[in-house]
Amino acid sequence: MKVNVIGLGYIGLPTSLMLASHGVEVIGTDYNKELVATLKSGKTTFEEKGLDELFMEAVNKGIKFTNEYIENDLYIIAVPTPYEKDNKKIDPNYIIKAVESVKKVAHKGAILVIESTVSPGTIDKYVRPLVKDSELHLVHAPERIIPGNMVYELKHNSRTIGADDVKVGEIVKEMYSSFCEGNIVVTDIRTAEMTKVVENTYRDINIAFANELAKICRSDNMDVYEIIKIANMHPRVNILTPGPGVGGHCISVDPWFLVGDYPGLANIILAARKINDSMPEFVLERIHDIMKEKGMTDLSRVGLYGLTYKENVDDVRESPTLQLLENMERHLATPLKVYDPWVKKTIVKNQYFEFDKFLNDVDFVVIMVGHSELRNGMEKIKDKVILDTRNICNLPGTYKL
Ligand SMILES: NC(=O)c1ccc[n+]([C@@H]2O[C@H](COP(=O)([O-])OP(=O)(O)OC[C@H]3O[C@@H](n4cnc5c(N)ncnc54)[C@H](O)[C@@H]3O)[C@@H](O)[C@H]2O)c1
Repeated sequence: MKVNVIGLGYIGLPTSLMLASHGVEVIGTDYNKELVATLKSGKTTFEEKGLDELFMEAVNKGIKFTNEYIENDLYIIAVPTPYEKDNKKIDPNYIIKAVESVKKVAHKGAILVIESTVSPGTIDKYVRPLVKDSELHLVHAPERIIPGNMVYELKHNSRTIGADDVKVGEIVKEMYSSFCEGNIVVTDIRTAEMTKVVENTYRDINIAFANELAKICRSDNMDVYEIIKIANMHPRVNILTPGPGVGGHCISVDPWFLVGDYPGLANIILAARKINDSMPEFVLERIHDIMKEKGMTDLSRVGLYGLTYKENVDDVRESPTLQLLENMERHLATPLKVYDPWVKKTIVKNQYFEFDKFLNDVDFVVIMVGHSELRNGMEKIKDKVILDTRNICNLPGTYKL
């Protein structure tokens, strides 16, 4: 079987490498010339546990990278699916463009697998009309892997395949079975679309509940972590951990699709989104309160540790730290210092690339992300005022959310 993967980002690249390293003939296509040149030069384009080893294996097995779309039997499309900020509906334009490009080269009977996350009905509304006359088979196989553990999860997670025709679904199942050891369920396209969005929405709502508890407990001087710890001893309670907000390309995006498409029906979902989006502002209020308590007045002596949306990855999309800085910028230019060991390029003002230099220039450290670097070197910040939004620091005097 020959597979052409379109879009070699966080999802498309590991997927194509996984297929190739398990003996599938793979050509990876991305319209970003620089990205393809990097891959062709033998380097990966982002940091991820196990990715470099997988890359070497795939290259040895003959994977190719190109800017071209190839005539082929099977395509996997893994392009971005953001939402439109004003109406919260999916922006289908990346998918439409990718499908149009594939359509120009695909032969009759070829299978087109949309891996990108889409809102329910997107394929019927935007993709089906495009391929109506071309006799391509449509499949939706949304991806579930988590950054930081992608290679493991690609192999072990279960998967969903939505297809119009069960036989086509079974062919796609066989392709994923080349590397996937989890259960693979074949269903229809709309069910697959909805299932994926529901999974991320479930996570968002549960995180929002923990965050709301943090706010309630803060308002009345109770220890939210102790309360959650005890409540979770109940056999049917499993409350998540509060944090500084929700970022990334999935959980903070996908619930908006349901809000946009089902106004008036998606009520808990909307409330959860609002709570999670309010957390960076809540952290900022905590910073001001603690500064007041400590008699501190100089915001430029406050440093945010962590720019990514979660620990031990380099993905900064929609991250709580970026949200917090954007909120501040609306009022005044932010003098806060920022440091993240995983982010090697300058993306915000006052950004540091060395932990020690950062610590020299701040008196107050706000832990926004629990990278291993900090977890393993917590004593480095022992003389600072600390606000720990991740509940990872046991140093005396540490402030919590
Ligand atoms: N990142 C995650 O953790 C994650 C997890 C599960 C699902 N998803 C979903 O997977 C999809 C892809 O997300 P991602 O994080 O990999 O995005 P990404 O931005 O990292 O990568 C997308 C890639 O597609 C390329 N591209 C866009 N349009 C193209 C076109 N017409 N032709 C060729 N290349 C094109 C871009 O250049 C980019 O390299 C999204 O729908 C996302 O919601 C992401």
